[in-house]
Amino acid sequence: MLDLTAQSSADGRAEPYHASRLDFLRYTAQFARDRVETLRRIRRNFGPFVLCRAPAPFPRLMAFVSGERFNREIFSKTDTWQTYRLYRHYKVGHASERLAQGLIRLNSGPRQKHYRKLIAPALSRSTVKKATARMLNTAEAEIVNWPAGEATNIWDRVCQMMQSMAITTLFGNARSSGCPVAEMINEVNQEMLSLRLLRCPFNIPGTPYNHMLKRAERLERDIIDWAEAKRGVTEPTNLLSLLINSVDEQGRQPDMNSIVGYLPTLMTGSFESSQSTVFWTLLLLSQHPEIAAKLVDEIEGFDAHAVDAGAALDKLELLDHVVKEGMRLLPAVPVQARISKESTSLGGYMVPRRTYAFLSAIYTNREPEVYADPDAFLPERWETLKPNEYQYLTFSAGPRRCPGYWYGMASVKVALLSILKRFRVDFTSEIPIDHTVSLVMYPRRSAMAILRLQDQSREASSIRGKVCRLMPMAD
Ligand code: HEM
Repeated sequence: MLDLTAQSSADGRAEPYHASRLDFLRYTAQFARDRVETLRRIRRNFGPFVLCRAPAPFPRLMAFVSGERFNREIFSKTDTWQTYRLYRHYKVGHASERLAQGLIRLNSGPRQKHYRKLIAPALSRSTVKKATARMLNTAEAEIVNWPAGEATNIWDRVCQMMQSMAITTLFGNARSSGCPVAEMINEVNQEMLSLRLLRCPFNIPGTPYNHMLKRAERLERDIIDWAEAKRGVTEPTNLLSLLINSVDEQGRQPDMNSIVGYLPTLMTGSFESSQSTVFWTLLLLSQHPEIAAKLVDEIEGFDAHAVDAGAALDKLELLDHVVKEGMRLLPAVPVQARISKESTSLGGYMVPRRTYAFLSAIYTNREPEVYADPDAFLPERWETLKPNEYQYLTFSAGPRRCPGYWYGMASVKVALLSILKRFRVDFTSEIPIDHTVSLVMYPRRSAMAILRLQDQSREASSIRGKVCRLMPMAD
């Protein structure tokens, strides 16, 4: 067995494990199917720094890394290590290509910095605090329609709630325009990433590719109509209004193609990771009913009508620790990818231009030097633990760290608080819960749960599926 912890030479160089071509073929096929599980095997079999060269005709170097040292090196050098387009199945010059650009795929530079700065006030801690009461009302309005005592697809319910909350809070409460656009963005994103498109990427009527192109055209039209309606309407907490009514980094009026590119990233950013976090945290709580019961005790003391609901939310310590622990074990974005724009040093080892690096939040967050008993669900560890951003990758790190931290945290807390106040979410084993990852990790199929009126029962839910390998289960 290899020594996986001490792979540094005396001069501080990390010694990479060089995987063979056979390993490459084996692991890339697995990676396409299940990124999280493949990274787990690579980490377990070869350690935190693995280099792997793809065979000809594309002899690219790939680096699979995990842990503070590599995260710091890669995330702090944003000019060298850049994001790259995730979507492969778009048509050049078509709506699908314009929709696939976006802040997350914009490489570092004046434009990217300009847009981060533009949206920052709307996502700041103080703005989010002021919006807490509205978020609570939106969550409550969703929950009253949840069917008490019945089995329901809890994943769909959570998605619906988080989308409503984001549209109400960050997109000017424009539910009639925003909800259909959000739905369509989800569908186009899924279609663009689907393996069915990869198998048949031809624009022939009736094919999935043709279907995706048509849907992308409709989505683009709807975004343009919505943006035009906001032109001249200044709303400082509405991200769309900010985009359409502000000049770009060179002082020019923004062109519609940019809006079409940025809005999907901002919209999905505003709810996709939060809905994943709420879902996985509910699943973890279903396996740890004693912690769930304590959390309900804390929540019962919360005054939803407090004059300063934001301050009241901040006082819920256990809720804060449960959310942090949930995101540690099952982070919304478990794997991040970067490409080097020039040859550079990684772990003291020179790697060439166009090296792909895969960074793993899910295993960084379980490094035993930082997290004692790393696979256990122990919210109380957060009473004293203060990892730096490179040791705890949930919102990424460095200059391109997620700008939505405050809203993301608050929305997750508001959702959990509102759900648990009323219901105990009792997952069923009817459908296995398998995880899948595009950028965000979510359940592959429907996830069924019975919404029991909150009774603080100490009984864990019985669940099955691939996710059980990633999380601590009830005994
Ligand atoms: C629980 C909630 C959230 C989590 C866990 C989360 C996580 C992340 C992560 C890990 C990244 C880095 C992705 C990468 O580099 O590959 C990211 C980037 C980003 N997120 Fe979030 N996010 C959350 C909420 C939000 C919200 C509410 C917004 C608001 C619109 C948002 C907007 C963005 C944007 C624009 C980026 C790209 C930043 C850049 O590249 O400069 N996120 N997020």
